[in-house]
Amino acid sequence: MTLVAPSIGVAGTSLLNGGAILGWGLGIPSGVITNADLEARLDTSDDWIVERTGIRERRVVGEGESTATLAITAGAQAMAHAGLTAADIDLLIIATATPDQQVPSTAAFVQDALGLRCGAFDLGAACSGFAYSLVVASSFLATGAVRHVLVIGSEVITRFLDPADRGTQILFGDGAGAAVIGAAPDGAGLLAWDLGCDGSAATILEVPGGGRSMPATPETVAAGGQYLRMEGREVFRRAVRAVVDSATVTLERAGVTADDVDLFIPHQANARIVDAVLPRIGIPAEKTFMNVERFGNTSAASIPIALAEAADAGLIAEGDLVLLSGFGAGMTWATALLRWSRGAQSS
Ligand code: UT7
Repeated sequence: MTLVAPSIGVAGTSLLNGGAILGWGLGIPSGVITNADLEARLDTSDDWIVERTGIRERRVVGEGESTATLAITAGAQAMAHAGLTAADIDLLIIATATPDQQVPSTAAFVQDALGLRCGAFDLGAACSGFAYSLVVASSFLATGAVRHVLVIGSEVITRFLDPADRGTQILFGDGAGAAVIGAAPDGAGLLAWDLGCDGSAATILEVPGGGRSMPATPETVAAGGQYLRMEGREVFRRAVRAVVDSATVTLERAGVTADDVDLFIPHQANARIVDAVLPRIGIPAEKTFMNVERFGNTSAASIPIALAEAADAGLIAEGDLVLLSGFGAGMTWATALLRWSRGAQSS
């Protein structure tokens, strides 16, 4: 079975003038959890973690920090970087699997704090959330009804983790990354994309408790139902297949090859997943941006944090082909191919 079968995926090609990234920002919590910190309280080792994941440290929120506060920091930076104010933003999308509250959306808190006067909603596609949001934002732009969409991937996953579960403790971290999406010159912006979901694999990465099907009770909490549970090996296996299929079909849709890609920014889940994916897509490690070593897996924040760091490091030039690809709980996957542009005015 191919993961990009029409029955479980939605395919797309060029959208009218969408997908230029006009500005970006970061919301990075100051707390750090090193492998040595984990060694001190779990049956694990720095060697094991580095060899199996490539991760050396991850960030963690402290007192007063939350998914919304990280998003606010990232979003404010992205607006300033794009040279825009709150009045210029026509839509806010927060990609998150770890909202501050179940009701209202995290977007409501962020909209208020940033002084936005526009529609605001959360998008739930787990680690694929930012790439999903990029496609949604570009679709809104294509209607001509909005000019700028603020997209923020923000997560506080550490508060979802079982303190005794070494499988998840070593992997995940907190953070936020934001981008202002606007109109692109002809031939630039979002060139092609692929979104998918295979809900038959929903239980391999899930938080079973705390929702309406299993409301939090003393019993569910005692059983750890509020924690993220993950079948690591199965997620790994499916992730490789999903990213390879999704990236490949996206390149085909754009009529380009892997050789044409200037920079690949994969979801930073585990360096070994990326190692497995690269030869199968045909992209060399030198053209791949990685920061999993310093952040771990920040779910929907991982691609925008990496994108912002790569752009800040001068690794992306106007006209470059940038491939973003993520996968996560659901299982979901999402790939976006961008012809890099800072907007219609830069043509
Ligand atoms: O964003 C999407 C979300 N998730 C992912 O992308 C996660 C995908 N999966 C993974 O990254 C990997 O499966 C993990 C990093 C979670 C685990 O690595 P693995 O290479 O798949 O290890 P494993 O689960 O196959 O376990 C191998 C061995 C086992 O010991 P035995 O049975 O061979 O004696 C585990 O008990 O390693 C042991 N192990 C550990 N040892 C030290 C598992 N976790 C740890 C640990 N420290 N943290």
